[in-house]
This record gives sequence, structure tokens and C-alpha cells, in this order.
Amino acid sequence: MALEDTDVFTRLERFYDAVPRDAAVAEDIGGFVLFVNDGGGWPFYARPRLGSAETPSAADITAVRQRQRDLGVPEAFEWVHETTPDLLAVARSAGLDVLLAPLMVLESAALVPDLPLPGAAIRFLDPAAPSFGADISVSRAVGRLGFGAPANATALQAGSLVVEVAGPQQRDAVPPLSADAVAQLTRRHASGRLLSAVVESPEEGILACGSAQRAGTVAEVAGVATLPSARRRGYASQLTASLARRAMQNGADLVLLSAGDDDAARLYSRVGFRRVGTACIAEPAAVSR
Ligand SMILES: CC(C)(COP(=O)(O)OP(=O)(O)OC[C@H]1O[C@@H](n2cnc3c(N)ncnc32)[C@H](O)[C@@H]1OP(=O)(O)O)[C@@H](O)C(=O)NCCC(=O)NCCS
Repeated sequence: MALEDTDVFTRLERFYDAVPRDAAVAEDIGGFVLFVNDGGGWPFYARPRLGSAETPSAADITAVRQRQRDLGVPEAFEWVHETTPDLLAVARSAGLDVLLAPLMVLESAALVPDLPLPGAAIRFLDPAAPSFGADISVSRAVGRLGFGAPANATALQAGSLVVEVAGPQQRDAVPPLSADAVAQLTRRHASGRLLSAVVESPEEGILACGSAQRAGTVAEVAGVATLPSARRRGYASQLTASLARRAMQNGADLVLLSAGDDDAARLYSRVGFRRVGTACIAEPAAVSR
């Protein structure tokens, strides 16, 4: 691990501890802090308590899961492997499935320039615009459908008899966000700590979405997804680049993301990100299989 990467990991820990507090109540449970969304938006996760020298135990995991079940939120955990290396074995022995996601930071000199997109343009969502509630709702629907169909699913479907690929029609059938969730997202965007952008075509509407959340001078690009019907046109790459650039214009000097898999990591490395470590994203084994 290079010396500057050690500093990066210290900043990442502070960031991961700070960023959910914008929209969540924090509960300390053993060696973990559990973030519970207080505004009807997407649920958060538990992560190791900032500055705690001890690795959380299997009993801590059990206690957090019990609390998550009581609250009716997903039994989700996240941490950085390089910072809490022993938690991986503890989590697996406690019955969690752990996704090892490439953790990447932007080399700002390598960030690709803005390029025109075929048949579409990037738009940042303005929380003061009357259409914000509808736009953020559609954008979250795109995210839901996108994450429901991993990158390699399009190729698998094309090679088999399965022909249905989610597109604008399926997007428009997703129920809108609740008024509470829209209100929370409006507030978070208006504060400048969250920004969202979409790729939009005049004929088909919003086809790709993504966000960047910032705490101090660190920002994370997250939730980048493209409708399966609109993939391989460069939308996600350009959207990621635009979000990273805007985050830097807004004061971030460290931009990170965790890639869902190696395909996504390849895409992000072409945009200008490099892998520095591994983000661990865990949930009970029975749920994911
Ligand atoms: C991963 C994901 C966001 C990529 O979206 P996308 O809009 O298809 O991404 P891009 O078009 O920018 O790049 C995808 C590929 O198409 C290629 N491509 C880009 N423009 C192209 C074009 N005009 N013609 C052909 N191929 C093109 C890219 O080089 C890239 O190739 P690779 O698979 O070899 O890396 C999308 O598959 C998705 O939503 N997946 C599910 C959610 C998810 O995993 N999100 C990432 C979380 S980290």
C-alpha cells in the first residue's frame, strides 16, 4: 500500500462515516454504527465504528442484524477491506455473503473529456426546478431496472431466446417515489451534498442515471446505471465523468467509487479511476442466493 493510499483510506473512513448522517440517524451497536434513514429514502447499512481499534465480532453482527430486522431494513453491512481486514472472515463465519467490490479513486489528470453522446445529452437535476420530483423519480426507476439487470445480462439475453430487455416502457411502469422520499432528496440536493445527473434523449426520456454525494472535500459517485435497452452507447462512462468533474468543481479533491464487478471496474478505469482497494458489501447468504 503506497503512503498516499494510507492517507486516502483515512479520508475514506471519515467520509463513509459522515455521508449517511445527512439523511440518517446513527445507532452504535457493539463495534458497528448502524445508519437508519430518517426520511423515507433508500435504506443504509451498518459499518465499523469510526476510530474503533477492534474488529467487530460475530456477536456484534448478530446484534445489528436483529436491530435491522426489528426496523424492517435490509441486513446490510459495508466496510473497506484494507482498513478492517479481519472483518471479512468474521462476516463470512457469521453467515454473511460478502461482495468484494473494486474501490477506485479518480486520477484527475486522467479524467476523460466531455464528449457528445449519440442521440442524448447529460442533464444535472435542479432541485429548484418544478420537474425535480418527477425527474428524480424516473431516474430512480432507471436505477432500479439497471441494477436489476447486471451488465453481462444483456449479452446473455441476446444469445438466448429471452428477448425482453427493460426499456422506457418498463421504466414508466415503476411506481413513483413517495412524497417523503422526494422531500428528503430535494433537501439533500439543495444543500449541495448530493447531485444527480441523467442521460436523456428527446424521444425516449431518461435512459441512464447517476449521483455523487459529497462530505467536505471527498465525493463518491454512486448509483450509475443505464437501462438495458440503452447500453453500450457510452452513456454510463460519460455520466460518470460528468459527475466526477462537477464534484471537483464543487470542491472535492478526492473522488471515489466502488465498482459492482470487474466489468464496471474496466469501464471506470477508462474514465480515469484507478483501483486502490476493496469495498466489502455484505448481506445474509440466504437473501442473495
Ligand atoms: C455498468 C453499466 C452502468 C454500463 O452502462 P453503459 O451505458 O452500457 O456503459 P458504456 O456504454 O459507457 O460502456 C459499456 C461498454 O460499452 C462500450 N461502448 C461505449 N460506447 C460504445 C459504442 N458507441 N458502441 C459500442 N460499444 C460502446 C464501452 O467501451 C464499454 O465496453 P466494456 O464492456 O468492454 O467495458 C450498465 O451495464 C448497468 O446499468 N449495469 C447495472 C448497474 C451497475 O452495475 N452499475 C455500476 C455499479 S458500479
